[in-house]
Amino acid sequence: MKKLVVIDACVRQQDSRTWRIAAPIVEFLSSKYETVVYRLTEMPMEPLTPATYAERVAGSVPPWAVEAAKAVAEADRILIAAPFWDMSFPSVLKVFFEHISLFGITFTDSGRSCVGMCKCEKVMYITTRGMNIPTGDPREQATPYLHALSSLWDLGVVLTVAAWNMDYSTPEQVEEKIDATTRFGLKLAQSF
Ligand SMILES: Cc1cc2nc3c(=O)[nH]c(=O)nc-3n(C[C@H](O)[C@H](O)[C@H](O)COP(=O)(O)O)c2cc1C
Repeated sequence: MKKLVVIDACVRQQDSRTWRIAAPIVEFLSSKYETVVYRLTEMPMEPLTPATYAERVAGSVPPWAVEAAKAVAEADRILIAAPFWDMSFPSVLKVFFEHISLFGITFTDSGRSCVGMCKCEKVMYITTRGMNIPTGDPREQATPYLHALSSLWDLGVVLTVAAWNMDYSTPEQVEEKIDATTRFGLKLAQSF
């Protein structure tokens, strides 16, 4: 069975509108893929410090980070659920990436530049944004970052599934956006 890694960066957990969209899509994909879920809010993670950076340089990386990096490197598909924060995604997701971006696992180098080592072909990135900022707007800095990370690790195409203007819509409109975006994501998931 092919492998799916789900990265849940929905800090508001059960209140998250982003996770409401992602949950049925993850459920559907779980029937097609052997699935492992990383719930970042439940993981003891801090940004690298001088001390932990020195440990890494000395070859000591936390076992959980090695395991997660290997899971990402071996995944056929990756799904990321993360709300839109500060024009990008919550910092816990960047911290996760920082920990699992490991030379010899997610990337290596050719002597002239970095080369990705991941086998993933498609990434689905699910998000909701408070402001009226559609995907592709220059103020939206999460999708471009994920494209760049895909180029570093070799993750393939990045498909963004997004709802926006969530904080300036009526409760009814919010529900409609969640339903429509979930349907769109489930349709994409058919051929994911
Ligand atoms: C800490 C924080 C930062 C946010 N920053 C932005 C932002 O920069 N731009 C924006 O459009 N919405 C921003 N929002 C609004 C969220 O993107 C929006 O409410 C989203 O639907 C929240 O997703 P969630 O329900 O999955 O948590 C922010 C919300 C929070 C809590």
